[in-house]
Amino acid sequence: MTAAQTDNSTNGRAAIPAHVPADLVFDFDIYNPPGAAEDFHLALKQLHDPQYPDIFWSPCNGGHWVATRGEDIHRIFADFEHFSSTRLTVPKSNAPPVPLFPIFADPPQHTAYRSLINASFAPKAVAGLEAKARALAVRLVEELKPRGKCDFVVDFAQHLPIEVFMSIVDVPGSDRKQLLEWAEGMVRPKQPGDVHITIGKIFEYAAQKIAERRKSPGDDLITKLTRAEVGGRPLTDPEIVGMVSLILIGGMDTVVTAMSFAALFLARSPEHRRQLVESPKLIPKAVDELLRRFPIVNQGRCVREDMVYKGVSMKAGDMVILPTTLHGLDERAFPDPLKVDFNRPTPMHSTFGNGPHRCPGSNLGRTELKVFMEEWLQRIPDFELQPGGKIEMRSGVNGTLYGLPLQWKVG
Ligand code: HEM
Repeated sequence: MTAAQTDNSTNGRAAIPAHVPADLVFDFDIYNPPGAAEDFHLALKQLHDPQYPDIFWSPCNGGHWVATRGEDIHRIFADFEHFSSTRLTVPKSNAPPVPLFPIFADPPQHTAYRSLINASFAPKAVAGLEAKARALAVRLVEELKPRGKCDFVVDFAQHLPIEVFMSIVDVPGSDRKQLLEWAEGMVRPKQPGDVHITIGKIFEYAAQKIAERRKSPGDDLITKLTRAEVGGRPLTDPEIVGMVSLILIGGMDTVVTAMSFAALFLARSPEHRRQLVESPKLIPKAVDELLRRFPIVNQGRCVREDMVYKGVSMKAGDMVILPTTLHGLDERAFPDPLKVDFNRPTPMHSTFGNGPHRCPGSNLGRTELKVFMEEWLQRIPDFELQPGGKIEMRSGVNGTLYGLPLQWKVG
């Protein structure tokens, strides 16, 4: 589908383009599937029902393809020669006010920007960030334990990625309150459009920090980016704003939501909690298995040139949504995929994407989940959902868990 055709859409719904055969059209809103408020993953899993082809066209959100099977999701993520990252979501919108590199660039441009942030996620850097995240996790759980209850999303999960970001860019503790407010605005916006307002504030914040670092350099990522070059020239301020903001945005609601889904699962499954309390060494494998079972990102790619993929004719400009959720839950890739089995062989999934854009924060994200489980389960081994507590999920570019009211016995 071309941009011009998208403009013909009404309320986000597009006319079916001529190259899309009627038997591949299914009226399924990937960002708002039926049942998502109760179970975001099962709502998307409906796309593995026999009536859906492996790749189908949805007229919703401006019209786009959806790849429903792990093999295609994994392959298309990595195939930048045919599928571009210059557009990632539907309906196709205008370019963001600052360039969000590296995520919106294709190789070779992507490679130049990506190489500037990789060191911040190398094992040595992650080890330092783990120590900070662990110290905060211990403090938070010790504070929460005597209360006997909490909203896990607000009182625990949101704090860890903020602490990690603050370490990467070395900003003072006095910024924490503001950053937490923005985390809240990103993870639980009062209205969906509010996310853009929050992102705008994050851009302003990043610009201010860049100006500060230019006057007073440090040893942090922002200072490094002010000295970095692409193609033989220094990065511009908007480029640095985009890169710094992307690290905050990319590592925030993803980690908060992945951690909250893990906590929700553990709250409902005493048997799995017991396994981890008795064998904490199992926790890294449990993290991988929970990331397979509860993926969250549903963005996509833009077809570069007219092509045929597995018998499906796609036109330049068509969007293909790649729900990472559906790789982890694909029974062709994993036997009994809805079952959580901490002893499953280490799974190969798309939760962190694949190829050149594969999440640079994957080890950091895993580490934050590991720290949560190690420190929480040691101090609060038994916990459950508060009776009548509201658990609301939403689908979207990223699935989100809005609140997680937990309780446990004190004393
Ligand atoms: C469980 C947590 C996380 C999940 C599920 C996740 C998921 C993803 C996915 C699926 C992509 C690929 C996007 C694409 O190919 O278009 C990605 C890219 C990215 N993620 Fe993560 N992420 C997580 C944690 C983090 C963390 C902790 C950070 C940083 C602090 C981060 C920063 C980024 C950045 C900068 C990119 C863009 C990379 C590029 O375009 O080369 N993510 N993430």
